[in-house]
Amino acid sequence: MVVTAHPLASEVGIEVLKKGGNAADAAVAVQFALAVVYPSAGNIGGGGFFLFRSAKGSCSSLDFREKAPSKAHRNMYLDSNDQVIENLSLYSHLAVGVPGTVDGMVEIHKKHGKLPWKDLLEPAIKLAEHGFLLTTKESKNLNRFNKTKASNSYNPYFKKKYKQGDTIFLPDLAKTLKAIRDFKRDGFYKGVVAENLIDEMSKNNGLISQEDLNNYKSVWRDPIFGTYKNYKVISMGPPSSGGVLLLQMLKMAEYSSLDQLKFHSKEAIHLISEIEKRSFSDRAKYFGDPDFYTVPTTDLLDTNYIKNRLQSIDKNMATPSKEIFAGEWDSNESDETTHYSIVDQYGNATSVTTTLNGAFGSGIIVKNAGFLLNNEMDDFSVKPGHPNLYGLIGGEANSIQPNKRMLSSMTPTILEKNGDLFMVVGTPGGSTIITAVFQTILNVIEFNKSILTSVNAPRFHHQWIPDQIKLEKEFSLDTNLVNELKSLNHQLKFVNSMNRVDAILIKNKTLFGGADKRGDDYVSYF
Ligand code: GLY
Repeated sequence: MVVTAHPLASEVGIEVLKKGGNAADAAVAVQFALAVVYPSAGNIGGGGFFLFRSAKGSCSSLDFREKAPSKAHRNMYLDSNDQVIENLSLYSHLAVGVPGTVDGMVEIHKKHGKLPWKDLLEPAIKLAEHGFLLTTKESKNLNRFNKTKASNSYNPYFKKKYKQGDTIFLPDLAKTLKAIRDFKRDGFYKGVVAENLIDEMSKNNGLISQEDLNNYKSVWRDPIFGTYKNYKVISMGPPSSGGVLLLQMLKMAEYSSLDQLKFHSKEAIHLISEIEKRSFSDRAKYFGDPDFYTVPTTDLLDTNYIKNRLQSIDKNMATPSKEIFAGEWDSNESDETTHYSIVDQYGNATSVTTTLNGAFGSGIIVKNAGFLLNNEMDDFSVKPGHPNLYGLIGGEANSIQPNKRMLSSMTPTILEKNGDLFMVVGTPGGSTIITAVFQTILNVIEFNKSILTSVNAPRFHHQWIPDQIKLEKEFSLDTNLVNELKSLNHQLKFVNSMNRVDAILIKNKTLFGGADKRGDDYVSYF
């Protein structure tokens, strides 16, 4: 089964499985297909995280997160008065981190792949060369970003008003994909494509150099493991904050008997929001690239620490965020992303979240190479206390340094029950990724919902700062609930939609797909 953000990408994945490929092969083919049919987040100019659980239960995770260019520096987004220059870390050539996706896909294939590399590129090349039809949502998406991000005149996405059924042809992108097909890593980080990318940078004050491209390396890292009730949770460690925060939240949920509370009741929303708030205050202080900063993972997941954090929750009143600080312990040592979940016929599973950061990334396309560049540099703390695109703040741990990876919230996750594969889950978003994965797991395990209901249930989110619960608009219809939450001193902010969770649940050896109705997300299976 393959669940992705786009029906065409799900079909590409399932065809790879039908040919005898495994979940890793399908993931690679899906990644390249999404770069064509889902340009707002599918990418070759961005990065992400790959989590793999083999049929026998061994796990690995690949960090193909972008890196700061070697000429990047701490104050690169500040003016002479130390003020943040608006939009520089988001919509300029300086916003772009060194892309990791292509190196990541090559590494995944090298370690886990079964089918020939070229076969995994062909479907994406065909889609780019022969064109594909826009869905209603995709045409709206493109039109929405038409004005704000049309940052270079040769950008094929922002040229006209689109409608459902329009065909998009991407010949430059097809050329680039062919170079990757023929030369793997060198097809992107060297040769014509690299020259185009460097040209794009040097003509527009960007920083990425050929040396940065040569030096980019994705990294196999140990996944984060933890338990939640009788489930084993496997997720992504730093430089994502996702796995550790998810485990903290699940543990707090476990110790507070959440299953005694009614689904989406005042008490449940209050408790979950207070849990989320406390974890996010830790994120702001303790998380960064583990190659540059020691993230105190063990301390953050320590049982006593988590129980202490939980004790500070008042069941009858929201704790103001200004009264919550990152925890302390005694220690001797110092919207837009996309997710896909795959389970193959051999029992292997992959959970992959990948991103350009904001929708369509920086909006900058590489001339003659046809692919969008990320604006991931904004995920660094550009100045202590200054909120990023998602309102997240950070400090020293996530400051900009040359060749460092920016902190992420992406949370590709796999759960086991009694040693067997139980759930594959993840979602796009920014800070809301972690809480959406958290709530999807709670919906299944604590509240006994089906995977489809769990994925599509309205969501809410608290990230400590700003001090508010963000809720999807469906909650506003329940005026009693709204008044009750306000009576606990919660500030509420209603939003149209948050996240697009794509998940697979395994029960009695049967796969159940959960594709999020908020997008074009789609389950393919055979
Ligand atoms: N760019 C969103 C994230 O990595 O958290």
